[in-house]
Amino acid sequence: RILLALSVFVSLANAQCTERELDRERAEDWKIHGCRSCKSMQVEFEGNCPQRGYDCDEALEMRTNVLGTDSCECSQLRCKDGNASLAIGGELFIRATCVDKEWSTLTKTVVESGICARKCDKGICRTHPDDYFNNNPIYIPFVVNPPDLEHSCPWGTCSSGAIASDSTWELTYSRGVEFSCAGDRRWQDTNGNRYDLIACMQKECEPLVFDEPATFCGDFIPAKHTCYKPQYVDGDSGVKTMTCDHSNALRYSSNDTVVALPICSHGQWTSNGDEIDDDTKGIP
Ligand SMILES: *[C@@H]1O[C@H](CO)[C@@H](O)[C@H](O)[C@H]1NC(C)=O
Ligand SMILES: *[C@@H]1O[C@H](CO)[C@@H](O)[C@H](O)[C@H]1NC(C)=O
Repeated sequence: RILLALSVFVSLANAQCTERELDRERAEDWKIHGCRSCKSMQVEFEGNCPQRGYDCDEALEMRTNVLGTDSCECSQLRCKDGNASLAIGGELFIRATCVDKEWSTLTKTVVESGICARKCDKGICRTHPDDYFNNNPIYIPFVVNPPDLEHSCPWGTCSSGAIASDSTWELTYSRGVEFSCAGDRRWQDTNGNRYDLIACMQKECEPLVFDEPATFCGDFIPAKHTCYKPQYVDGDSGVKTMTCDHSNALRYSSNDTVVALPICSHGQWTSNGDEIDDDTKGIP
């Protein structure tokens, strides 16, 4: 009988112990797994990227990690790129932490989406030193504007075309091209192509004044020529040229001689290297 009583007592104690053990495990499960089982964060630009001074890039990866192997550390989420911060609701964070299966930050208990952002402040992207323009007089400096309503990063435009360069190659852009500073410290065009440095082409040539002297055009009978305005068209690489519908029709109005191969160079019309005065006419 004593034995029986003892065995009942033992099994009661066992049951209590098991119940306590389960409680402890439940609490631990929740603590550990509730803060280790966050899913990957949704990447979203809208509503997360700070308005100015940061380049947010959907291609930048986020990475989760658990610090400590056997402790009950919670999962953390960071941007993989060491120079990128996590942008959430326009604010920047080093990390988000997993709490109750939800990502959270110091200011937000449930984070639904975020994006990785890198600085694109003034000075992040390089510009040519002054020397470059002394050595390459066909270019002028690319003027960098601060961020504004339409540009979250510093930006600039080249009204007459640009030369974009990398360590190994250069590319010419036609006029009106715009570049903005990207988080990888390079200049990007509106299609996302990136370059180390940008220089602008010299300014464009103005159309010449159309001159129609009576000695060559018009009023005398018979008229020597019928005169009309030349066209100003974009040639290769954004270089402007001046053309007429008829060959050899473009002439100086002062002496009726043909203007050969006119091109715009450094804001000045030239013909075979000589500057052209602003009195020309087209004569068929
Ligand atoms: C972070 O920025 C520094 C310069 O500030 C640069 O040297 C480094 O390569 C960058 N790291 C990454 C991962 O891009
Ligand atoms: C004709 O006039 C232009 C400028 O008006 C001058 O540059 C050019 O040399 C002249 N050509 C001749 C053959 O006189």
